[in-house]
Amino acid sequence: MKTHRIAVIPGDGIGRPVTEAAWAVLEKAARGAGFALQADILPWSCAHYLDTGAMMPADGLRHLAGFDAILLGAVGWPATVPDAVSLHGLLLPIRKAFSQYANLRPHRLLPGVEGPLRTAVFDILCIRENTEGEYSGAGGRVHQGQPEEVAVETAIFTRSGVERILRLAFSQARARRGRLTSVTKSNAQRFTMVFWDEMTRRVAADFPDVEVTLTHVDAMAAKMVMAPDSLDVVVASNLFGDILTDLGAAIQGGLGYAASANLNPDRTGPSMFEPVHGSAPDIADKGIANPIAAIWSGALMLEHLGEGAAAARIHAAIAATTARGIGTRPGRDRTEAITAAILSALD
Ligand code: IPM
Ligand code: MN
Repeated sequence: MKTHRIAVIPGDGIGRPVTEAAWAVLEKAARGAGFALQADILPWSCAHYLDTGAMMPADGLRHLAGFDAILLGAVGWPATVPDAVSLHGLLLPIRKAFSQYANLRPHRLLPGVEGPLRTAVFDILCIRENTEGEYSGAGGRVHQGQPEEVAVETAIFTRSGVERILRLAFSQARARRGRLTSVTKSNAQRFTMVFWDEMTRRVAADFPDVEVTLTHVDAMAAKMVMAPDSLDVVVASNLFGDILTDLGAAIQGGLGYAASANLNPDRTGPSMFEPVHGSAPDIADKGIANPIAAIWSGALMLEHLGEGAAAARIHAAIAATTARGIGTRPGRDRTEAITAAILSALD
């Protein structure tokens, strides 16, 4: 039987129960489709940091390289480990080490879920550049604690990095409704973002069938709220994409629905699939985390592994569940009840 080997990192807080839920759904979908999933569950987390002094072992990245994909829950427990330590010790190095340069975040209003907007139609795909830009990690601090202290953090945009994310976005737009919004801020940022606009126009020449619009990030935030049905695929730099996808998640009804795929499109290393939400310490032990974002992320993983039929069955089971009113209100249904409903909708 075909077997996919998955590194499973539940991580912190609600990352654990939602990953368990996603794994149960993935295993059942795999059984139904005649393939197997084999998990190596890795305890890397803030608890692991407190035990060992590191978020993951020194050879952690080398270990991950051997898997077909990575399924991640959430990283962060600021009460014990500063976020800048935990995220730079686990999540961000994985994205960079495996060239997961495309972060695909689909935002769709599920049946039965009432978002905060009056619109009933919201179906966009945000594509966030995931390895450079504002997250390049180039910078430093001098004169710490002194009145003349200086902190610098430089955004780095490379031609190859910008071109590959734009090409991927144009081809995704071509496969969807043919519209692409490229998010910029070239009215203020005259080096990086003017370059981004030039590259958008250059790549657009190869996709004459895609209708492309350059929109400043501030106007984009307004457009997502005021005219969400005018949008299809959205491509943005790392930080702009980070911010706009929390807005996208809110319009979907909450972070509990927002799935993501950190893709290495060239397949030179494993891709990683994770819900957009974090560890949510405020509800971590209450049993009410919505597992839908994690389950949806698992379905994106199956698509990436070439198991599109099983992924489609998971999408249908999620939609059937929310259509029945289960998992449609934050905090009302138990994680286990939502998972059980999705599992039985898979039958
Ligand atoms: C996300 C998160 C991360 C990011 C944080 C936790 C570093 O907000 O995946 O959207 O900014 O990329
Ligand atoms: Mn974010």
